[in-house]
Amino acid sequence: MNIQKTEQLYEGKAKKVFATNDPAYYIVSYKDDATAFDGLKKGTIAGKGAINNRVTNYMMAMLEKKGIPTHFVEELSERETVVRKVQIVPLEVIIRNIAAGSFSKRFGVPEGVVLKRPTIEFCLKDDDLHDPMVNEYHILACEWATEEELKTITDMAFRINAIMKEFFLKLNIELVDFKLEFGRTPDGKVILADEISPDTCRFWDAKTHEKLDKDRFRRDLGHVEEAYQEILHRMFGEKA
Ligand code: TMP
Repeated sequence: MNIQKTEQLYEGKAKKVFATNDPAYYIVSYKDDATAFDGLKKGTIAGKGAINNRVTNYMMAMLEKKGIPTHFVEELSERETVVRKVQIVPLEVIIRNIAAGSFSKRFGVPEGVVLKRPTIEFCLKDDDLHDPMVNEYHILACEWATEEELKTITDMAFRINAIMKEFFLKLNIELVDFKLEFGRTPDGKVILADEISPDTCRFWDAKTHEKLDKDRFRRDLGHVEEAYQEILHRMFGEKA
């Protein structure tokens, strides 16, 4: 495969997306930039881009092996990956196993309460509107996804949760919650897209419940870089 970047199409908060010499593929480039609260809080997490690239690609490859279709094609370098070109479904799909973050805030369920069963939430991807939570009726009424797509997304999200929960528990990590995004291929299939990383998941040490994810940045808890390194270390047994 000889995929080369052409022009930059988009710069997001944590990644850049480039067109390539092949119309079927994009190249994503992971940045060290970090934002929170819809971009209000800005910072840098040294080494984050390389870690998120590696962690995401490992997770995507693992999920593919277990039958989840993803956009992952090939890791090009420390920060760059070839992905299939998709049209992103404008929803953030959040799965939760343990109460935390906005779930705790909204519903008054203390952080750390293990949920009786995993939950799913959909948020509209729109920073200006602060990614409002939407339900299935809103999604169908506004045509953000079709009924069939929504069913596929929901089934895939729960399957991904089961696979990831088991994987991280073996590393002594509790998968508290995470956010997924999906994309449509040109032939209309829905596949997993975006990233799976400490930016988009809450990871807690299974014994101490220490936070090993972006919450350390969001909440100014310190040792942010170390948390990302720790995830890398537990997954690959090495430092970046
Ligand atoms: P929340 O508790 O703030 O709603 O976050 C739920 C999960 O989604 C958590 O693992 C962090 C992740 N997330 C993102 O990936 N992007 C976002 O913009 C937000 C708000 C959360």
